Amino acid sequence: MRPRWAGFVLGALLSLTATVHAIGQSTCVSFAPSSSSLPIVDNEKATPVFISADDWPGVQQAASDFVSDIEQVTGVKPSLTNITASSHLGNLNNAVIIGTLGHSSLIDAIVNHTRLDVSSIDGQWEAFMAREVKNPLPGVSNAYVIIGADKRGSIFALYDHSEQFGVSPWYWWADVPTTRNSQIFVASEGCSHSSPTVKYRGLFLNDEQPALQNWAMEKFTNGTGAALTGSPFNHFFYTKLFELLLRLKANYLWPAQWSSAFGVDDDQNQPLADWYGIVMGTSHEEPMMRSIPVEWGLFGVGPWDYGVNKQNIYNFWVQGAERGRPYEGIWTVGMRGDEPINEEGDISLLEEIVSDQRTILSNVFNTSDVTTIPQMWCLYQEVEGYYDDGMRVPDDITLLWTDDTWGNIRRFPIPSERNRTGGAGVYYHYDLVGPPRDYKWITTFEQMSTAVARDAVRIWLVNVGDLKPYEMGIEFFMTYGWNSSIWNQNNLDSFVSLWAQREFDMSETDGDEVATIIANLTRFNSRRKPELLNSTTYSLVNYREADNVVAGWQALNASATQLANKLPSSMQPAFFQLVLHPVRASATVGTMWIYSGINNLRVSQARLSANEYAEMVSTLFEQDYDLELEYHSLLDGKDHMMDQTHIMYYYWQQPMANTMPFVSKVQSRKQALPGAMRIVPEGTMGSWPGDNQYDCTAGYNCPNPTVYLDAFVPAGNRFIDVGAGGPTPFTFTVTSNVSWAKITPSQGSVSPSSPEQRVVLSAAWDKVEGAQAALITFNASVQDQPPMSLTVTFIANHTTVPSGFTGFVEGDGGVSIEAAHAARNTSVAGISWVNLPGYGRTLSGVTPWPRGGDELNFTAGTGPSIEYDFYTFNSINGTGNVTVTAYMGPTLNGLGPDRPLAFAMAMDSGEPQVDYFVPEGPPGGYPPQWNGYDGWVADNLIYTNLSFVALPGVHTVKIWMVEPAVIFEKLVIDTGGVQPSYLGPPESIFVSS
Ligand SMILES: *[C@@H]1O[C@H](CO)[C@@H](O)[C@H](O)[C@H]1NC(C)=O
Ligand SMILES: *[C@@H]1O[C@H](CO)[C@@H](O)[C@H](O)[C@H]1NC(C)=O
Repeated sequence: MRPRWAGFVLGALLSLTATVHAIGQSTCVSFAPSSSSLPIVDNEKATPVFISADDWPGVQQAASDFVSDIEQVTGVKPSLTNITASSHLGNLNNAVIIGTLGHSSLIDAIVNHTRLDVSSIDGQWEAFMAREVKNPLPGVSNAYVIIGADKRGSIFALYDHSEQFGVSPWYWWADVPTTRNSQIFVASEGCSHSSPTVKYRGLFLNDEQPALQNWAMEKFTNGTGAALTGSPFNHFFYTKLFELLLRLKANYLWPAQWSSAFGVDDDQNQPLADWYGIVMGTSHEEPMMRSIPVEWGLFGVGPWDYGVNKQNIYNFWVQGAERGRPYEGIWTVGMRGDEPINEEGDISLLEEIVSDQRTILSNVFNTSDVTTIPQMWCLYQEVEGYYDDGMRVPDDITLLWTDDTWGNIRRFPIPSERNRTGGAGVYYHYDLVGPPRDYKWITTFEQMSTAVARDAVRIWLVNVGDLKPYEMGIEFFMTYGWNSSIWNQNNLDSFVSLWAQREFDMSETDGDEVATIIANLTRFNSRRKPELLNSTTYSLVNYREADNVVAGWQALNASATQLANKLPSSMQPAFFQLVLHPVRASATVGTMWIYSGINNLRVSQARLSANEYAEMVSTLFEQDYDLELEYHSLLDGKDHMMDQTHIMYYYWQQPMANTMPFVSKVQSRKQALPGAMRIVPEGTMGSWPGDNQYDCTAGYNCPNPTVYLDAFVPAGNRFIDVGAGGPTPFTFTVTSNVSWAKITPSQGSVSPSSPEQRVVLSAAWDKVEGAQAALITFNASVQDQPPMSLTVTFIANHTTVPSGFTGFVEGDGGVSIEAAHAARNTSVAGISWVNLPGYGRTLSGVTPWPRGGDELNFTAGTGPSIEYDFYTFNSINGTGNVTVTAYMGPTLNGLGPDRPLAFAMAMDSGEPQVDYFVPEGPPGGYPPQWNGYDGWVADNLIYTNLSFVALPGVHTVKIWMVEPAVIFEKLVIDTGGVQPSYLGPPESIFVSS
């Protein structure tokens, strides 16, 4: 059973008073009284808070934070007192009473005495309720009673209120200031929540060197770490982390492991977690609550190989079980190693390992029913291969399915795997090595919504690397796991807006602008893993791709800067950490790589302006470090958080130093051999006059360039760059032999201080019939040198579509259509193709929805369909054939090998072709195209090509669902002219009759 909070509508919270910030919570706080509200602080007087001495220590802690939070907001601290039902309180008008059902004698007495109906939470994991209760205790006429169904139910109830009072969960970790309000009221009907969607929601600190580790060393130690490990992750550090987790309504943690051992570094770590209410676990490669490799390195005897060293490893695990027994935990079972066991007999040995681990648990816990002890088996990499090959573990052990470490979940439980008593969960990754980072929350939503649909909701664990700067991504993951039912693809943007409004106490309009900034930042960074960028990732010559990417970064930086300047100075550090730094760091690195590409290209074109780009690369490279320093000096306390190196990867490991992208220079005092003027038309790597390997095949004696433009080229024009070939200034004019050619500007001047002038060519289409050629002549007057002249042929083709046609029109040799822009969309069996706004690399993605389980699939041509209309003038080499390239979200065959991802596509009334576009990898492995520099993951995209007959004219391409969880981002129909680029051609022109 998966309890859902049904009676809650997101719209309801949006309409409430703007100053109470709540993200996906029911709202019960206000800063002004109403007829049915109770005061928390009113007229500088705080309502006293009561709790019971026998409640959980974690609840006591949260209650103490609760009253401190109220003081942060109002300046008035309520009293917090332990009482019993028979305490003499005098005569109180109002009180706040906090406690855990069945674990607070005070609450139990009130429930008994008032017959308060607690049935909605009784026995429900982590549920809570809060409401006004009349005469709860003798002498108290009104109380706002906050009741948790269990320990964390109470804790989450308190932090839920604190968040609405105005204390961000990130107040400490991201320096989010608390907005002051002199009064706080709560609604008499209160806030409540039933059990969360996902039972265990947590994170994993991983690869925490260098950033988090160095920062923690400075912040939480006197300069030396733990005696045995050197780790800085002591109980001071974890106190901050546990509080953050609970404020985010998370409950589960895999601790730092790279050079730490949670249970050894500080013997207060483990009891403290339990005291706070955090469920501890260990990562997929650390069975039985012991850190691997650190603890084994310290205390292990012999090799980490159960096949040859069974008894020592067994004893090692017994000690882990004994040490962890007093505390709430989930026991990781199984075993991994660099050389996992021995190849032959892996599976039977692993089964023996799990069985031995359960024996240890039974013995240490002294129970005959080991199924009462929560256990987890993580199907990570080769372990999933064992599972695929038939290895099984007992039913009560939760199976933790994993992603590919890039956020693409490899497999979800199929129906036959869904009735296991241990259930299933997901181990997910946010960690990318190095800023700029990708928040990935839309992808996260897409993937985790499938996890919900397929019942993988027992455990969600996200690997967050250094934790920062994933603040928003982490919060989304936890918020979605807390209550998935209120979020969908259409209100996802409101999550970011609400988050920004809360973090920066901003208006809805500004919050929406942050949402736009984050959406663009996410999109730009998700186009390619930042560490895999290079100087030619984006096409420097086709579709103005590189220029557009740079312009996108500049616009993003401008809007983030403008917003930052509007904020009060108290908000600046938080805004810098959460929005501005990610934008600037990403824009700097993204622009730097493109500029190095432009430099390299222009050097080869003998253009003086190459040198300016060399300078700009060098400046951006320094700026990258300036941004890191600015981050580290924030409020004197973020030293090392951005230590991660991130520029110029040589192999998978982080580079040992950031290295500037390669740049070169031309000699600025020496003129290029062909003369002072360089002519470079759009769309070529060549340059004229003179020799260049790209001017023609031979590379010498090449003809002058020709530029083509048709009426449906999306940009509407072509440009020609006129550049300096050396130190000598010149002026130039541009003339044509026809009246229809439009030239802007038709003259200009070029000099070393202004070494480039862009000239734009377009056509007066009303004066052009069919294809016509013009001669465009560039005449230069060069200081102290003979004049120069170069003529470019400009061919304009006035393509036209018949009147009455509605759809996309071929331009530039192809048709490009964003998947969201369908002409028709037909549902079948309640499933239709829906848009996931913001998904993917260019606009969005379309996918069959609802995801549902996986019962439903369709034979070719029978499922829900989506259609795109377009018009062509050409086919590939006049053959009558076109190629349709589908740009697909990078998803894996999550339904297992028997149900590979598939769709069907047809041209016009032709037979649908079924495309199984993700080949099966080896057990536990990936399809061959998945990894690698040019792999689907690096590209964040799967390309699949289908060929069709399509003579010039009107066409419809139709796509049918065959299997669920297939996502289309874009379709590109090549009619013979599609050029290489990273993002594909820009969307074609749409005409409507
Ligand atoms: C209430 O009692 C508990 C248990 O003795 C104690 O830990 C806690 O500090 C007390 N709280 C207050 C506010 O006195
Ligand atoms: C509540 O009442 C029930 C019976 O009505 C009794 O068994 C229980 O002990 C009472 N609990 C408290 C805390 O008073």
